[in-house]
Amino acid sequence: MLHKDIDHVLVSEEEITEKCKELGVILSKEYEGRKPIMVSLLKGSVPFMAELMKRMTVDLEIDFMDVSSYSGTESEGDVKIVKDLDRSIIGEDILLIEDIVDTGRTLLKVRDLLYSKGAKTVKIVSLLDKPDRRVIDIDADYTGFVIPNEFVVGFGLDFNQKYRNLPYVGVLKEELYKE
Ligand code: IMP
Ligand code: MG
Repeated sequence: MLHKDIDHVLVSEEEITEKCKELGVILSKEYEGRKPIMVSLLKGSVPFMAELMKRMTVDLEIDFMDVSSYSGTESEGDVKIVKDLDRSIIGEDILLIEDIVDTGRTLLKVRDLLYSKGAKTVKIVSLLDKPDRRVIDIDADYTGFVIPNEFVVGFGLDFNQKYRNLPYVGVLKEELYKE
């Protein structure tokens, strides 16, 4: 049953599951013989990380980082590290897991930060991509779904911390965030 605040579903639960299987095959091949660290950007990428890691057949580690600086529906200019990684990543292959690439500011900062911590490689995998909103010239290395410029919630994505638990990605009814 559709949540009452959702206008329509953009990406269904089944489509997400299928996509994670596909990405899992591709990424397992890419990281064959290596042991990547999957780094989930809290909190939005947690469901995606959980789904994707099950589809990976190489040995790996997971870690979490929080760089949230997002309130309401507009990206703020600055990104601040709220929770750092648990271990050193010098010489490691990092697979950064994002929920959505919007302006690109978060990705640029986090990727630079991971390299400055000594990561050997940093690849980015994002569940969603909203290319119309890009301000910084950066793209994920692997993208689940390219979506139009609409505010979406679900499968980890929130509006004021709500709706992260929806099993699909849906467009929020406009009257809920536009006064
Ligand atoms: P960026 O730094 O502008 O690319 O913003 C990326 C972050 O903004 C994501 O990790 C999300 O937390 C948030 N964000 C961007 N677009 C949406 C959206 O449509 N719904 C919910 N969160 C979003
Ligand atoms: Mg986020």
